[in-house]
Formats: sequence, C-alpha cells, structure tokens
Amino acid sequence: MLNVSAKKVSDAKAKSQTLVLFAHKSGATSTIPGLNKTELGKVHEITGKELEFDDLKKGLFLRGHNLNGYTNLALIAVSPSKDDSFSEGFRKLGALVLQLGLANKQESMAIDLESLCKGQKKLDEVCQALTEGLCLADYRYDEFITKDKKKNSVRPENIVLVHSTKMNSKTITEGIRSGSILAECVNFSRGLGDAPGNIITPVALANETVKAARGTGLKVTVWDKARIKKEKMGGLFGVNLGGGPDCRFIIMEYNGAGKSKKPVAFVGKGLTFDSGGISIKPSQGMEEMKYDMCGGANVIGTLLAIAKLKLKVNVIGLVPSTENMPGPMANKPGDILVARNGKSVEVFNTDAEGRLILMDALSYASEKKPRVIFDAATLTGAVVVALGNSYTGVFTRDKKLMKDIQDAADKSGEWVWPMPINDHHVADMKGTHADLCNISSFKGAGSSTAAAFLEQFVDKDIPWAHFDIAGTAWHIGGRVNYSPKKGASGVMIRTFVELAKKFG
Ligand code: BES
Ligand code: ZN
Ligand code: ZN
Repeated sequence: MLNVSAKKVSDAKAKSQTLVLFAHKSGATSTIPGLNKTELGKVHEITGKELEFDDLKKGLFLRGHNLNGYTNLALIAVSPSKDDSFSEGFRKLGALVLQLGLANKQESMAIDLESLCKGQKKLDEVCQALTEGLCLADYRYDEFITKDKKKNSVRPENIVLVHSTKMNSKTITEGIRSGSILAECVNFSRGLGDAPGNIITPVALANETVKAARGTGLKVTVWDKARIKKEKMGGLFGVNLGGGPDCRFIIMEYNGAGKSKKPVAFVGKGLTFDSGGISIKPSQGMEEMKYDMCGGANVIGTLLAIAKLKLKVNVIGLVPSTENMPGPMANKPGDILVARNGKSVEVFNTDAEGRLILMDALSYASEKKPRVIFDAATLTGAVVVALGNSYTGVFTRDKKLMKDIQDAADKSGEWVWPMPINDHHVADMKGTHADLCNISSFKGAGSSTAAAFLEQFVDKDIPWAHFDIAGTAWHIGGRVNYSPKKGASGVMIRTFVELAKKFG
C-alpha cells in the first residue's frame, strides 16, 4: 500500500524525486504559489513558452531540471468541475498526482500543500480527500498477472505532503490517517469484487472477512449452511440449492459506543456468482456477474473502515452469501420459499435471487432493533437503464433520511439519486399462492418493485434505505479518475461511513 506522510518544508527538501506544485487561476493569468519569479522564468525557459493554465489541467511533468532542489517537477492546474463537491476536486487532484508518478516511473513524490491550499481553511478535508485520491488511484488487481510484467513497473511508494510551519501538522496527519484508512478499505473491497467466482466463493468471502477483521476490534461470526437452515433463512438456503459451494451468513459487529446505544445496521448482497439459475442469463456479459457480491463486499469494507477509524458508534454488518446456479436441486419457477420472518414467496424468476437472500438478512437485521438499516445490492438491471453508471439509486419513504443520505454522499464525493417507492409497487409484488411473488405482475419500474419487495422484511418502525448499486459497483472509471476503468469501484463505502458517523 502507498505510504502517505507529512513533513515540514525544511525536513522534506530534496528527499523525494519529484516536487508537485499547483497553479491557480487568478483573473486571466495563472499563478504557481510555490515558484518565485526566477524559478518561474526557468520553467518558461524549459518549456520554451509562457505557461498556459489549460496546459496544466492534465499535469505537466518536467524531468531532470533540479528546480527547487528536486530532480523533477510536476505542475498541476487546480480547476475543479462544477459538478464536483468541495472534497471531490482534491480527491481527483490526488489521483492525478499518482497517475503522473506512474506514467513517469517515480518512486517518491512531494506535494507542496501551500501551493495546493492557497489559504484554504478546511485543511483536514483537503488532506483526507487528497490522500483518498492518491491511494484509490494506486489500486490494481494483478494477482494473476505473471510476475515479470509486475516487476518492470516502477511506481510511487512514498508521497510526502510538504507543509509550512504555519500549517497545523496534527490536522494534516489526521486527514492523512482518515484518508488512508478509507482508501485501504475501499481497495480491499474492490479486490474482493474483482476476484473471480472460483476464488471468492461464499466460504472464501467469509474467511477473508475474518482475516481482515483481526486486530481491528470487529467481531465476525459466520453461519454455515446447516446453521442457515436451522435459523429458518429459507431464501438464502433456497437459492443455494442450485449448487456450487455452500452458502454462508456473515455477521459483523463493532461496538465503539456504550452498550445502550442502538446500532446502525448495514446489509449487503453477497452473491458470489449469478448465473440466473434455472431462469438462466444469456452468456454474453455473464462474466460480469462475479461482481454480484459487491454490495456485500462494500458492507464488509464499511465495517472495517469504521473499526479502523475507531468511530464512537455501534454497527452491525450482515452479508448473506451464495452462488445462484442451475443445478438439479435448484429452485424452479413456481417454487415457494419461506423467509425467516415467516412470509412466503413464489419464485417466478430464479434470476431475481438477490431479494430472496436479502429478505432473510433484513428480517435478521430488524430483530436486532437497530437505529436505522441501510442495504446495498447489485439488485436490478432496471436501475442501470434508469440511472446508468454514474448515480446509485436510493429508495426510502423517509424524506428526512433521504436528505441525510444526500448530504453524506455529497461530502464523500459519491453520486446518489432518489427513486420512487410506494404502495402501488408493494401491490405489484403480491403472490397468488404465497404472500409475495419475487417478480412484479406488471411491466416496468423493476427497481422500485424490487425495493418494495425488500421493504416487506423490514420492521415498520425502523428507518430503512435501499441502495441499488447495479450500475455503479463496477465500470465507473470513465467518470472518476480514482476508480479503475474496468473493475470494482467500492461505491458507497465512503457514504456509509459518513452515515454511521451521523446516526451512531
Ligand atoms: N444481479 C442481477 C442484477 C444486475 C443486472 C446487476 C445487471 C448488475 C447488472 C439480479 O440478480 C437480476 O438478475 N435481476 C433481474 C431481476 C428480474 C428477473 C426481475 C434483472 O434485473 O433482470
Ligand atoms: Zn439474478
Ligand atoms: Zn443477482
């Protein structure tokens, strides 16, 4: 993992290969606070022309000129997009620095905070977001890429945030700590998502969670198939009948506050491979269904981050995990399953399996009487049609909760969009020979009817919101530079951590 630290200017000089300075637009001209007139003149000599602000938007790397005592110099324009929140601009700058380091094979870089902040007051937020951007952009899943290729790539290992004595070093270090922990947990979760189905089975997902939780204060309990049956989790057990490895139910608990404080509950869909079952999916694009456990992986990442940040909150994380396969014992269309809370469900389409495993997990969450329940799931293709791969669809009838979610997402630099859920959607999910059916009796609004189905397993007096991350859990790299172009994004972990702070 990339090491980010802080140093005063006097201690840092020339210990890194590259100095990174930032340019700001002031009126028609641009200024680079870290360079005096003579130095700026030198830069102009090197580039052979006056520096245009726009030339620096993607970053300019000047090699081997020993300016300011560093071998190399990188210049970057600060020009946040209007669509981005305050912190998001700095997150993207962090990613840009890392990408310049990667492209130019730099092992150590020093970022001049003074030139970045230019009088900016929210130093903690700046340092946290910058660190997140640096570490998130450093993510790669190359476990199976043969060694030689890996060895040849020199990459940034140490990044120092250089600051003046006027800047509060404790604030800076705190920002770096929070940013590093969050990014580390997002990257861990991305790794689980990118790992193929033959590596991350339900058993492996549970084992990885137990391993990662060691020493963090997070308690992990894992229920095996026999226990799941005994606990009347008819949905999780039923989906697992299709074959493949045994199912697991992962329970994570973290107590950072007093015993009397109600916990915040997070529930995530951990479907390690979704073939569709008997209602089998078309083969084209089926490989993407290894990502069907991203809701679960992101809940695991959230709980790890909360524990490592030592937040003063109580939280529980629940991940039902199985494959959805079409073996001889698999659910057949028309089969009836009974959930933990006693409600019965007709399975008309075995590919609508996410809701079947979540119904048991949400019932279990309700029994714990939490302060609030949030769930994340790659639940419907319909949300991808509605919102594409930029916004996560959020479903809740609680307007105040929606506002809190929106605020938390804005703060985290993540995009959420409120989606409808009402009694009509509930009515559409009524069964004929069971209480409910797992697909709607009408066409359209597939994400809303799925959410309405889930709602039937949450206690009426517990605030609840469902996050459909089918469009945002992977493949969002074209939109943010700190996420891989192809691969798991770790979406909503940062928002969930903010929500835990708010409700804890
Ligand atoms: N895992 C899928 C949803 C999905 C689709 C995630 C595309 C990511 C990208 C889910 O289990 C599923 O197959 N849902 C069905 C529901 C339908 C049968 C009511 C869908 O969306 O087609
Ligand atoms: Zn499915
Ligand atoms: Zn699925």
